[in-house]
Amino acid sequence: MEHLPSAETAEAAESHYFTQNPPPKNLKSNVTLAREFIDRHAEQGRRLVLVTSGGTTVPLETQTVRYIDNFSAGTRGATSAEYFLQEGYAVIFLHRQFSLLPYSRHYSHNTRSFLDFMKEENGRVVVDEQHQEEMLRVLRQYSVAKKENRLLILSFVTITEYLWELREVAKLMRPLGHKAMFYLAAAVSDFFVPQDRMVEHKIQSSEEFSQNTNRNGKTPAARTEGRSLIIDLEPVPKFLKQLVDGWAPEGMIVSFKLETDPSMLVKKAQYSLEKYAHHLVIGNLLMTRKWEVVFVSALEGEKWIRVPRNRRSRSVSGVEAWIGRAEAGKAENTVQPKAE
Ligand code: PMT
Repeated sequence: MEHLPSAETAEAAESHYFTQNPPPKNLKSNVTLAREFIDRHAEQGRRLVLVTSGGTTVPLETQTVRYIDNFSAGTRGATSAEYFLQEGYAVIFLHRQFSLLPYSRHYSHNTRSFLDFMKEENGRVVVDEQHQEEMLRVLRQYSVAKKENRLLILSFVTITEYLWELREVAKLMRPLGHKAMFYLAAAVSDFFVPQDRMVEHKIQSSEEFSQNTNRNGKTPAARTEGRSLIIDLEPVPKFLKQLVDGWAPEGMIVSFKLETDPSMLVKKAQYSLEKYAHHLVIGNLLMTRKWEVVFVSALEGEKWIRVPRNRRSRSVSGVEAWIGRAEAGKAENTVQPKAE
């Protein structure tokens, strides 16, 4: 069993991580965008949610050719963002570059090209009849969010970029207190290569050409030995602790727990809830995540939400609408989940 890190250890781990792993180049401009967005919506008294989405990568080289990835297409995050927008939230969508985006997800990353939704009519491009109704619905929702400037899209690729952005945006949201929500659907790496143990150039497949030390004389975390690739990763500190205790202590925090072994899911979700003492853990299994999730909260214990498998696209709506109701009712602790 892992031990709960003390506040000092968690703070020391945070400080060490951010000192050793430099910020992304666009952090400053992203912080400026986020600050303007947050201030504008705070002034209007709007509830704000930071939705994280997609998988973080762990680069093995500074000039990255190879990396380790975490599974996530961004479906959960992009779909949830749409439902939060529908519930009137302003949404900061912090997503893995090129993963699914709210609204456009209906027409991207598909086996069909977006051009398959179109046809030519009298020399003009129009939407095919059979897609009119659905596209009009999506377009209307998108137009409202856009007109009201309620969606800010930020991106990350690596675990370090993700953590820098999460920390900076969370701190900007801190003054919003309980009007700020954190919905952490991104798939976050547990292990990584620290900057000072990363090789500059592409790892060679043969030991003859491989770099056995890097610029500061340290043994690289990823290297070839004989004909094998050795990868010796270090743990990423659990930043959920810092988010709950330091970055946004009054915000509503929803984390996700992904497992593949059904016997572990609820146990691990409960463990996470006890360990970090936040509001809600949504557990899902890799194989069934589209049609069932388990909500684990101090308030209501364990609740499963299931939808029929052939209504996959609606499954997420049930979950995200629940979250909307949870947020609305959390001050009074009167939230009742409604399974579809
Ligand atoms: O995008 P889809 O294809 O629809 O898939 C959605 C999903 C399965 C990725 C999503 O529903 C999901 O489960 N996301 C969380 C995945 C994850 O990181 O699970 P975890 O059990 O490894 O981590 C649990 C929590 O700890 C997460 O909220 C994470 O933000 C947090 N964490 C993780 C690592 C770390 N170093 N620090 C953290 O705080």
